[in-house]
Amino acid sequence: MKELENLLQNNRNWADSIKDSDPEFFARLSVQQNPEYLWIGCSDSRVSANQIVDLLPGEIFVHRNIANLVVHTDLNCLSVIQYAVEALKVKHIIVCGHYECGGIKAAMDDESHGLIDNWLRHIKDTYRLYRNKIEALEKKEDQYALLCELNVIEQVANVCHTTMVQSAWNSGQELAVHGWIYSIKDGVLKDLGVSVTDALEASEMLKPETP
Ligand code: CO
Repeated sequence: MKELENLLQNNRNWADSIKDSDPEFFARLSVQQNPEYLWIGCSDSRVSANQIVDLLPGEIFVHRNIANLVVHTDLNCLSVIQYAVEALKVKHIIVCGHYECGGIKAAMDDESHGLIDNWLRHIKDTYRLYRNKIEALEKKEDQYALLCELNVIEQVANVCHTTMVQSAWNSGQELAVHGWIYSIKDGVLKDLGVSVTDALEASEMLKPETP
């Protein structure tokens, strides 16, 4: 474990610097969390939720998996959404994808990757759904970037159609779902313009048009 001493030292330095600027910070957070946002993003080490939007611990509830997928039968992701919506009552759910996503790239090639191919099938489904639009682009890199965006839009629709989000809207709870994409090359987020704030808007998303 000796080789991880640098991480533990980093942690002590970090905790000290927070306490220096706000002595009650951890005591306050230990009582309760009250985040306004749920972030559903990719596991990619370059896309760290808190850092990208410059938020402290306690300010954003996070779920990450490969290629930021929201699968209708994934109890892990669904449980996170349920807790965020029903217990924490977050006001915003942000699905954040990123360009240069390895999961998207792997879904576009014809190679075998083992177990993960079962997960990537969901991205292949999105590719099939938008095949004409994607293959209308000449360059492979443009197709890749478009699929990264379309994947986010599909996951926004999937979030909107979960029973938890539908129930929240039906009971008048304030809740918006957003689709963003992050550029690893410059660190900048882009809003894909597919925000949904009620069930009616969500039903219109069943056949989404790309922005
Ligand atoms: Co990724």
